[in-house]
Amino acid sequence: MSKSQLRSIFHDHKHYEDSMKLFYETVSNHGDREEWTNTVFRQVVSTKLPRIPEGAPLRVLGVGSGNGKTDYLLITKIKERYPNIDNTAIEPIASHLDKYKALFTAERNNLEGVSTEFKQQTIEEFERENGSSNDKYHFISAVHILYYLRDWQESIRYLYDILADGGVMLIVIISEHGGQTKVLRKTFPEGEEFFKTIDSADLCKVLDKMGVKYERSRTPSRAKVIASYEDETDENNLWWDFLTHTINFRQTAPVELQKSVKELALGPECCDPRQDDGTLLFKFDWEAIIVHK
Ligand SMILES: C[S@@+](CC[C@H](N)C(=O)[O-])C[C@H]1O[C@@H](n2cnc3c(N)ncnc32)[C@H](O)[C@@H]1O
Repeated sequence: MSKSQLRSIFHDHKHYEDSMKLFYETVSNHGDREEWTNTVFRQVVSTKLPRIPEGAPLRVLGVGSGNGKTDYLLITKIKERYPNIDNTAIEPIASHLDKYKALFTAERNNLEGVSTEFKQQTIEEFERENGSSNDKYHFISAVHILYYLRDWQESIRYLYDILADGGVMLIVIISEHGGQTKVLRKTFPEGEEFFKTIDSADLCKVLDKMGVKYERSRTPSRAKVIASYEDETDENNLWWDFLTHTINFRQTAPVELQKSVKELALGPECCDPRQDDGTLLFKFDWEAIIVHK
């Protein structure tokens, strides 16, 4: 089997979910978005949103909002300073949007003053429908979605265009200091149909070219390598499948590719030096890039 015949995990939604769940169980400091929202988000975003006229709502846009859990945390934090919020959530997958709606209904007592418009569409469809409207947004979030966009650079330009003056855009993306993008580039050197292997360095280059102001905040995070590469357990298979974004990587990838991916993934570029107790930790840092207009 050649490299190009590798099947990305996006061909099988359940495999994607299962491998991601297993992988995240090995990750430290990634899932605790609540703590991050109460600390970093509060300092670098929610206290820096613009003043708006008395009585007017703060306009918020969530792009690729998924099940709404992240949007919920961000909005409840913003609500401490802005009692009146008009929230628009864009999410193309109906089942994700249903979960978002259910969460916002269940938590309606904590969301007084927040009105939400749900849009089941991609950002590209949203752009076609709305263009560069005059109704700009004071806060835009795009959390771990750039990898999936048709043309992420053009989408960043569009989102910046619809950000109000004084507004803030939060983009969360895998950090260049982590190892996953390096592994994905090795696994899919010609690129892959379902995702782009991009990280914080790629994003910052584009923002620099655009000449916009931004800050960076990196959260160090580690995934525990659960077994030796050769260990034939279902868990270990899933761990490597998520890391490489490939279905059955260890069973289907050419031997040479497996060798080079393993060397890279377990080597010093991607892992910390082995701990005293023998544990190996894969670098899985992520970054919040905060764009100001
Ligand atoms: C990794 S999830 C992140 C979800 C959420 N932002 C969070 O942090 O929990 C990526 C989300 O982007 C959505 N997505 C994929 N392609 C998109 C597009 N072209 N426009 C908008 N959203 C998209 C997916 O449906 C998915 O819900």
